[in-house]
Parts: sequence; structure tokens; C-alpha cells
Amino acid sequence: MGSFSPRLPLLLLLFSFFTLLVEVVTASGFKICAYNVERFDSAKASDSRVLHTVKRIVSRCDICLLQNVVDSGAVKMLLASLNRETDRYDEYTYQSVSSKSLGNSPADMQRYIFIYREGNVTVMGQHQYQKQNAFVRAPFAVQFQSKKTAIKQFILVPLHSGPSQAVQEIDRLYDVFKEVSKKWNNTNVMFLGDFHAGCAYVTRADKKNIRLFNNSNFSWMIRDKVDTTVSSDTNCAFDRIVVHGKPFLKSIRPYSANVFNYVKAFKLPKSKAQEVSNNLPVEVSLKSSALLLQATPLLILISVSAIVQSFLSAL
Ligand SMILES: *[C@@H]1O[C@H](CO)[C@@H](O)[C@H](O)[C@H]1NC(C)=O
Ligand SMILES: *[C@@H]1O[C@H](CO)[C@@H](O)[C@H](O)[C@H]1NC(C)=O
Ligand SMILES: *[C@@H]1O[C@H](CO)[C@@H](O)[C@H](O)[C@H]1NC(C)=O
Ligand SMILES: *[C@@H]1O[C@H](CO)[C@@H](O)[C@H](O)[C@H]1NC(C)=O
Repeated sequence: MGSFSPRLPLLLLLFSFFTLLVEVVTASGFKICAYNVERFDSAKASDSRVLHTVKRIVSRCDICLLQNVVDSGAVKMLLASLNRETDRYDEYTYQSVSSKSLGNSPADMQRYIFIYREGNVTVMGQHQYQKQNAFVRAPFAVQFQSKKTAIKQFILVPLHSGPSQAVQEIDRLYDVFKEVSKKWNNTNVMFLGDFHAGCAYVTRADKKNIRLFNNSNFSWMIRDKVDTTVSSDTNCAFDRIVVHGKPFLKSIRPYSANVFNYVKAFKLPKSKAQEVSNNLPVEVSLKSSALLLQATPLLILISVSAIVQSFLSAL
């Protein structure tokens, strides 16, 4: 076996090179986003500049939750724009799953819409939380599956809270967690959206009475100091992402949870950005399954060649 050792450093070098290559190839991960598009209706979507901005934001994400969508016409226009054959925006085809119109007053009915990349993402189930008077817009939970992610099935629970009862609504997400995790026998649950979880609506003192916060099984991915608003007058962490459990937490790319400041990234004047929304999108990336999938054939190849070599040199 002594004759095998000179080959070892070379193999190790090769192996680390391929590992690096695989890491570079899969660097983007699987992006989940949440964006409050402030009264997104057909009239708003007819403004080509607004539609273009929303399209650029949505097309960065494998799954994007849109909140405050007023009519399905706006979504049709957005999907048509994302999927246009002639000037195809990217290689993906986008699909959507939508809640019913939710709200207390006919003048302010809103839908939760998930827009996702068809083929890469599959909707496994949907569930509208029903309990009366618990939420202004009760969460519309969707269980997703993707071959691209390290974690196989996960549940997304959206919330656009009523600002004046934000504390109670965020606390009640715990009841939603119990219901959906039991329904689908799956505790990989992510909560996302404009919770109004900052400034005057939710204070530090409020938090210790919020189960989603005082139960350490839930991890808040977007920190309190983050500003999720466009306006320079406000500095509030309204929009959040919260994840339940160690397995889900471990499947998230470190430091990938962020606000996406498209105003800077797209070099838009603030006034133009505010025509779209005063909220910024928040996002997080899941680890890709590709790392393992792509590395496996190489590992097998390297191991086989190592065995063959050790056999040959033993002869
Ligand atoms: C994801 O979508 C792209 C573009 O449509 C496709 O090439 C790829 O095979 C898909 N990946 C999976 C795992 O389905
Ligand atoms: C629920 O999931 C757990 C772990 O994923 C599994 O061991 C168990 O058999 C499942 N229970 C049911 C009723 O499917
Ligand atoms: C967390 O908050 C809930 C709801 O207010 C409360 O009933 C519970 O006692 C709190 N738990 C802890 C550990 O503080
Ligand atoms: C946290 O999760 C573990 C494992 O599911 C469970 O046993 C424990 O009771 C949970 N803790 C709280 C405070 O709910």
C-alpha cells in the first residue's frame, strides 16, 4: 500500500479543485422573496415603467410572494410580461397560485399571490386559514417542493398584517403553524411578508409576548435594524422572514437573508420607486441540492481511479 501514497496529494488537489468549481457553479442558490406591491391592480400594472420594475424584482426569485394584489388582471399582465416569447425575459416560465380576495372592507380587498418558476417548483397543496377575526387577511399557506433545493418540501405562510393589530396577528401565526404543520406533517415552515413588525406597530416590549418570537424554535432572518422602506423618513423593519426548526434553518444559505434595495440596484429615483411601493422586497436563499448531485459523479470517479491505481501499483 506504500506505493499508493505518492498519488494522494495529487488526488486531494484535484478533489479540492472540483469542489471549488461546483461551489462556483451553484453559488446563486434558490431565492424566495416577499414583496408588498401596494395596491397592485390593472391600472397600476398598465403603467409600463411600474410593470417593468415589478417584473425585474420578481424574475430574480424562484418563488416570489406578492402581497396587496387587488385584482387578478394585474397578475395576468405581470405573468404575460414575464413569459413573453418574443423578448423572453429569462429562460424560465412563471406560474402563479393565488388566494381569494381577503379583507374586512370592500374598499380594501387584497390577495396573496405566489409567482414561481414552473418546472423548478411544484405546488403540493394550498390551505386558507379560516379562523374568524384572527387576521385582517388570513394567511394562505402553500406547500412547495423543488428538486433544486436541499430541503425537499416546505410550507410558505404569508402575512400582510393589519398595522394596528400587528402584535396579535404575528402571535397568531403560531396557531397557523400548528394547523399547517399538522395538516401536511411538515414542520419546515417559513413565514414571510409585511408583518409591520417594526417602529410604532411592534416594539421591543411587545415582542416577549409574541409566541413566534419568544419560542426559540423560530428564527427571525431579517433583523430589527434593517430598513424595509423606500422613504428616507422611515427606518422600519416591517417586512420579515421567519423560519421554523433546525432542519429548515440549516438548509438556508448563511447571510442570504436580506432586504433587496432595488432603488439602488436599478438606479431608480426614489420618487419613481415610490410609485411602485414604499416597501422593499425581502429575500432569502435556500441551499441547492445541486452541490451534492454534481459532486457525486466526481467523487465516484476519483474514488474508482484511486482504487484502480492502488491495485495497479500493488501488482
Ligand atoms: C429549472 O428550469 C430551467 C429552465 O426552464 C431548466 O433548464 C432546468 O432543467 C430546471 N431544473 C429542474 C431541476 O427542473
Ligand atoms: C410524519 O413525518 C415523520 C418525519 O418526517 C415521519 O416519520 C412520520 O411517519 C410521518 N407521519 C405520518 C402520519 O405520515
Ligand atoms: C410567549 O408569549 C405568549 C403569548 O403572549 C405567552 O403566553 C407565553 O407565556 C410567552 N412565553 C415565554 C417563554 O415568555
Ligand atoms: C421546539 O421544537 C422541539 C422539537 O420539535 C420540541 O420538542 C419543543 O417542545 C419545541 N419548543 C418549544 C418551546 O415549543
